[in-house]
Amino acid sequence: MHRIVIATGNPHKVEELREMLALPGLEFVGLADLGRPFEEPAETGTTFEANATIKALAYARQTGLPCLADDSGLEVDALGGAPGVISSHYCTDGRETGMSRAERDAANNARLLRELEGIPPARRTARFVCLMVLAAPDVLATARGAFDGRIGLPGTVPRGTHGFGYDPLFLVAPEFAETSAELPPTRKNAMSHRGGAAVAMLAELHRVRDRLPPS
Ligand code: IMP
Repeated sequence: MHRIVIATGNPHKVEELREMLALPGLEFVGLADLGRPFEEPAETGTTFEANATIKALAYARQTGLPCLADDSGLEVDALGGAPGVISSHYCTDGRETGMSRAERDAANNARLLRELEGIPPARRTARFVCLMVLAAPDVLATARGAFDGRIGLPGTVPRGTHGFGYDPLFLVAPEFAETSAELPPTRKNAMSHRGGAAVAMLAELHRVRDRLPPS
């Protein structure tokens, strides 16, 4: 049996990844299951891959176990790939504040619509990207997923009650008829950046499984 730590304190994410990455011989645990505190690394990378790698290596070092971490965000073509790695704190240019998640989501969305003012639908293309990294003593495996769409025009968005973050603004390709906040979770997971990265990571886990330390 090989134990792998999923480097997130979010029990929902642990459960979701545990289901998506099920392979015989692998057991997934969350940081919270280890019953002690860990130091959170600063996400100083300029790419999703760099930040996922920073997290996977930091928690692998602290736990002594193989560790899987992810980083995700939104890239908007007309903004040169912004908000990118600062997606969760776009409203404050990446700075941490005391705002709640709901306040931040609303302020991030307002800023995104403001930045895209006057840009027509065909030039509002965007994608959610997710990078997953597995770090172990003899393994560094990476998997990427992307979810294409475009940012709706003010007045037509925000729309939808599911999801979080930029979902109410994100019109899903190729139809651009529904926002990702209008998709029920199972439909979103089947086509999303996180779902895509998980499928690619499953193939990586299959490939490197025998190189993971036994536990
Ligand atoms: P994290 O990787 O969970 O920290 O996500 C980073 C940020 O990217 C989130 O706070 C959201 O702003 C944005 N984001 C990532 N994935 C999604 C998604 O599926 N829907 C909407 N926003 C997302």
